[in-house]
Amino acid sequence: MAASFSASSPSSARVVSPTLLLLLLASFACHCRSAPAGAQVTGLPGFGGAQLPSKHYAGYVTVDEKLGSRLFYYLVESERDPAEDPLVLWLNGGPGCSSFDGFVYEHGPFNFESGGSAGSLPKLHLNPYSWSTVSSVIYLDSPAGVGLSYAKDKSKAYTTGDLHTAHDLHTFLLKWFQLYPEFLKNPFYIAGESYAGIYIPTLSHKVVKGIHEGVKPAINFKGYMVGNGVCDTVFDGNAIETSTACQGNDWNDSSSDKCRTAVSKVDEVIAGLNIYNILEPCYHSKNIKEVAPQNSRTPQSFRDLGVTDKPLPVRTRMLGRAWPLRASVRAGRVPSWQELGASVPCMNDEVATAWLNNDSVRSAIHAEPFIIRMFEAAIIIDIFIYFICFSDDHDMCVPYTGSEAWTASLGYRVVDSWRPWFADEEVSGYTQVYENGLTFATIKGAGHTVPEYKPQEALAFYSRWLAGSKL
Ligand SMILES: *[C@@H]1O[C@H](CO)[C@@H](O)[C@H](O)[C@H]1NC(C)=O
Ligand SMILES: *[C@@H]1O[C@H](CO)[C@@H](O)[C@H](O)[C@H]1NC(C)=O
Repeated sequence: MAASFSASSPSSARVVSPTLLLLLLASFACHCRSAPAGAQVTGLPGFGGAQLPSKHYAGYVTVDEKLGSRLFYYLVESERDPAEDPLVLWLNGGPGCSSFDGFVYEHGPFNFESGGSAGSLPKLHLNPYSWSTVSSVIYLDSPAGVGLSYAKDKSKAYTTGDLHTAHDLHTFLLKWFQLYPEFLKNPFYIAGESYAGIYIPTLSHKVVKGIHEGVKPAINFKGYMVGNGVCDTVFDGNAIETSTACQGNDWNDSSSDKCRTAVSKVDEVIAGLNIYNILEPCYHSKNIKEVAPQNSRTPQSFRDLGVTDKPLPVRTRMLGRAWPLRASVRAGRVPSWQELGASVPCMNDEVATAWLNNDSVRSAIHAEPFIIRMFEAAIIIDIFIYFICFSDDHDMCVPYTGSEAWTASLGYRVVDSWRPWFADEEVSGYTQVYENGLTFATIKGAGHTVPEYKPQEALAFYSRWLAGSKL
């Protein structure tokens, strides 16, 4: 068509010829799907050259010109109806955890199979429980310094805080929607887990404020969801009730000697447990990287630990750099894992690290080639409060008891009282719905990262939440 336009006579510039009209129409039509040129991901190493199940786009958005802060996003379009389906921004917690945790281990479009030897390229298979079966999902690394996001001025940019992070995230959204205006009309949601219990409400507050103030582009924001979200010192700190000696003040280190003794005794007893799911083995040694071999003499129930609907046994794995036990959120500086001199307990991030640090993967997803660790942390120095939606019931890291108590403490009227909810005709957890659209739900038998342990149940509640139907 371009050829016929350039070949037309000069007079066609004044008289709108049918060719020109067509061209104009075509260029308006193109505006409906105007993803930035070159952002589309056309193939992924490990997926064997197969066609992706929907369109994927990836790249950077600069959120702070002065510091050169660039946030990396990976958009998976809905495999159903990207023009109509909701758009969801996904944020893993940390602080300092890459959202590729969600992409690789939780609800991304692929199930990752280890490549065999350490560091070799994993194989990718389709994940039937991907959240992209019902929505488009943006996986975003935030703040700068986390995962594939970075800043030129590291010394200034990497010392950050929750409010600044929310500000940058809002800037990201406004700029991202300018790059992808076709998504402005889709219902937009924000979802995440763990420390995203801080990220999400602070960002949602900004987004809502922006809408009220007429900030453009107008975001069609519909709601948010937090899984196993960190809350505050008191609710999270009292989530595990250790002793009557503490009188409901377990969180307060200096409450009394009797309480302190009781708390340390409990801590000693549970020290070897995997805090992210108390029933799972703690993968701290090379020998228990996989679930127990079939010929071992361990009972079947132990051999089955770690087995889920996903092919990778649950976390012989990675980075769910969630809040460590007994370190509930407090205002102040947060030390990184490196500073603590510890790696994430019970975790191993081999598959994600191998895949994301491979040169051909980086180039396929348009990411800069620097080496990343999945739980590299920017430092967070101020803290705010949040909102909640779902929790699993075997997480000791951010136990559901704290989230449940916090949710109830808001004083909203109960409109659908505590009852089981079902997926595939099985009780999959319990839920209570409050006025103002607040739902609390548990997912039976899951660990800290719910879609990793219970992918089918997670997709069930996710789909119902987006559709606005009852759990
Ligand atoms: C913690 O407990 C001590 C001793 O009972 C008390 O003085 C202090 O006020 C408590 N801290 C808070 C923040 O409530
Ligand atoms: C990255 O993956 C490609 C396959 O796509 C492989 O040929 C290459 O050796 C890998 N690079 C490294 C450094 O492992």
